[in-house]
Amino acid sequence: MIKQAKVRATAHTNIALIKYWGKADVSLNIPTTSSLSMTLDKFYTTTELSFDASGQDRLILNGEGTDATRVKGFLDLVRQKTGQDFPGLLIDSQNHVPTAAGLASSASSFAALTGALVRLLDLPENDREMSRIARIGSGSASRSIFGNFAIWNKGHDDASSYAEPFYDEDIGLSMIVAEISQKEKKMSSTRGMQLAQKAPSYGAWVEKSARQLKEMKSAVQAHDIEQIGLIAQDNALGMHEQNRLCPEPFDYFIDETRQVLAFTEACYRSGLLAFATMDAGPNVKIITDKASETELLARFKNEFPNMAFEIAHAGGGLSYD
Ligand code: ADP
Ligand code: DP6
Repeated sequence: MIKQAKVRATAHTNIALIKYWGKADVSLNIPTTSSLSMTLDKFYTTTELSFDASGQDRLILNGEGTDATRVKGFLDLVRQKTGQDFPGLLIDSQNHVPTAAGLASSASSFAALTGALVRLLDLPENDREMSRIARIGSGSASRSIFGNFAIWNKGHDDASSYAEPFYDEDIGLSMIVAEISQKEKKMSSTRGMQLAQKAPSYGAWVEKSARQLKEMKSAVQAHDIEQIGLIAQDNALGMHEQNRLCPEPFDYFIDETRQVLAFTEACYRSGLLAFATMDAGPNVKIITDKASETELLARFKNEFPNMAFEIAHAGGGLSYD
């Protein structure tokens, strides 16, 4: 039964401290590793969903008609899985985050779309079910249903692979996002991770990631930002190493990325909490705490006067308005 004609949902991006970088099942986004993330307050997507008079699925992104192939593929899978052959949808979405630049627009956008869809179709608003649906749109979106720290247990099939809240307290972690480039990346995360999985060292990264996840859980529960930063940095740099070592090598790093990484390390050596994590793009997220963020930001702005920086903290889960 269809309850509402139009629904608006908002979801925030999340940044993984232990990354998802590989698929055991490509069509369902079943990952090779479990991952742990923090949802951010600063970056989000708001999506308004209604039925489209044309009967087709259409996407309007930031006010402009946009290629709907990916969302249509997602909606068709949802039609198939829920057995609800709902008519074409108009997805009118605003990204308050650069699209496809490695700042997790796919996470916030598929989580927002899932939230809106579930309400529009009057499906049960169950977090676990919504996480599973969002996962089919984009793996990282499974975690954006939740605020604060979420864990995506890799599972082994569609029923067992979903995210859930891990720690719902603000532990004072800050992320300074160095917006090195807002341009759309050349290599999508979907393709990048599938290439990286062919690296001879990939199995070792997966094994290490399981150990790092355990350590990360303890560090989050202990509010130990230094440990969180050290583990997250090692996990992320290891992920990017697979990209360089696979049979068709590629690299998301550009010169400014390397400069920001080197400066982050120099700041840490000088006694400030400063660690880096990176996703599928050249942008760097610097992990620190609320007490250090002002001084650290001033140092980065001084060193990189032409670069844009934003400070983000823990944000909330899926919401409606
Ligand atoms: P990012 O690093 O931003 O997550 P991805 O390549 O993983 O980049 O995902 C970007 C893709 O996600 C876009 O090319 C588009 O297909 C989809 N996308 C991004 N924002 C939206 C949105 N608001 N609504 C629907 N799809 C979106
Ligand atoms: C590096 O979730 O964008 O950000 O499932 O193919 O849509 P698809 O990939 P996506 O990959 C995110 C990769 C990452 C790490 C992470 O968020 O865990």
